[in-house]
Amino acid sequence: MSGPTPAPIQPAEPPPPPEVPGAAETTLSLEPPPAAEPTPEPAEPAAPTVHLRISRLRTGDRKPHFDEFECTPEPGATVLDVLIEIRRHRDPSLVIRHSCMHASCGTCGVRINGREALACDTKVAGLTAPTIDVEPLANQRPVADLATDMVDFYARLEAVGFPLVRSAEVAAGAEPPEGVKAYTRFENCIECGLCLSACPVSRTDRSYLGPAALAAAARVADEPRGQPLGPILALAAEPDSVWRCRDAMQCTAVCPSAVDPARALLGLRRRVAFGRVRSLLGRG
Ligand code: SF4
Ligand code: FES
Repeated sequence: MSGPTPAPIQPAEPPPPPEVPGAAETTLSLEPPPAAEPTPEPAEPAAPTVHLRISRLRTGDRKPHFDEFECTPEPGATVLDVLIEIRRHRDPSLVIRHSCMHASCGTCGVRINGREALACDTKVAGLTAPTIDVEPLANQRPVADLATDMVDFYARLEAVGFPLVRSAEVAAGAEPPEGVKAYTRFENCIECGLCLSACPVSRTDRSYLGPAALAAAARVADEPRGQPLGPILALAAEPDSVWRCRDAMQCTAVCPSAVDPARALLGLRRRVAFGRVRSLLGRG
């Protein structure tokens, strides 16, 4: 006996894929993803504003006073750049002295926050004080604002035989066979007067010959090029000369040309003392 034919077994429906949250919104695309927005360059830090106080002195003024300026110097600007900018755009009456702009001519010496320096060789960014005080060099007669009278300074250099001018193309003794190192550093003097300004003895004794002139005298003594040394050593032996120095070393500390006037002066002092001993022994 045969019964009814059983219905064929249908394969079961595959279960629906599990629901993934957010899958309904996902669309597949073969397009390349949009290029990422370029990261913006970090903005240049704004140049800081500096507060300057500049010493001013006019004809007839009994004493100097400070004029104040706010400036925003270019990165890398020197104090001299700022002073020139102020004179150009803010106060054309500002008296400053400069020439080479690269620490060679020695004309832009001033005191910056109380310290002697060449304005063209002093970066504003290197000064950490919130206010920059600019004053003329000390121990020299002020003329106007930041300019001083250098006549006396140059006269002292002349008194010790500077500048050295050769008397002939090939003068006797003009070729230093040895010991060149002993005096070449004196040749670097740019006659800026910073050492005179920083010298504490020059502050109290205006007749003191001063570090620059004594360094020049030491240079002439080391290599005189035929100049008679007697008058120069006699000048160096005066009471207001090598014996007045108190070894404060400030001249050497501020010199922008590594002349080392303090060491030169010590050498000259030794030479003067040696000459004195020789004359006491009847050999001078
Ligand atoms: S010795 Fe130095 S500080 Fe003095 S005048 Fe010469 S360069 Fe200037
Ligand atoms: S301008 Fe010449 S030394 Fe500064």
